[in-house]
Amino acid sequence: MLHLPNNLRILIGGAVLALILTGIAVYFQSRTDTLPADGEIRNADKPLAVEGIESEIKDGIHEPTGFIADEGLDLVIAHCTACHSAKLVTQNRADREGWKKMIRWMQDTQNLWELGAQEAAILDYLSANYAPVSRGRRPPLTGIEWYELKD
Ligand code: HEC
Repeated sequence: MLHLPNNLRILIGGAVLALILTGIAVYFQSRTDTLPADGEIRNADKPLAVEGIESEIKDGIHEPTGFIADEGLDLVIAHCTACHSAKLVTQNRADREGWKKMIRWMQDTQNLWELGAQEAAILDYLSANYAPVSRGRRPPLTGIEWYELKD
């Protein structure tokens, strides 16, 4: 070990310690700064601002979210993409009552805020564009070339 005066050792030790602590602080800061990937919970506590969505609509689809462009799109983007990906919405189908139940469930358990006067418009949008699809039975087979069974 070098022969340094004690006060110099303390000074160097302190500087090294400060450097390490700064490094740790910067590391954790950068971790909290990175935005979660699409689909992760963002824990928003209020609607998001929606600007310029008209220019993002192509062939009837709002490209960044995949939502169908229709009356109420701005409300749905603002309220329904704050916590999770729009995909969670667009991959679901329900009638008006079913959508209302999902909204109530999120309000009761997931901190979704009151939608107030906008709820009716949001339900209109969801039940019109993401209504249940009735698939029915598998359609009959057509265009099959049958072959003779040989014995
Ligand atoms: C405050 C946060 C928050 C907001 C805002 C929010 N949700 Fe959710 N939602 C959640 C959470 C949390 C889940 C559960 C996610 C999971 O299971 O991974 C969820 C799940 C869902 C699901 C899936 C339900 C299921 O049965 O699988 C749908 C559909 C949905 N949300 C639609 C919406 C719609 C429509 C809106 C806008 C009116 C909305 N969400 C706004 C928090 C929110």
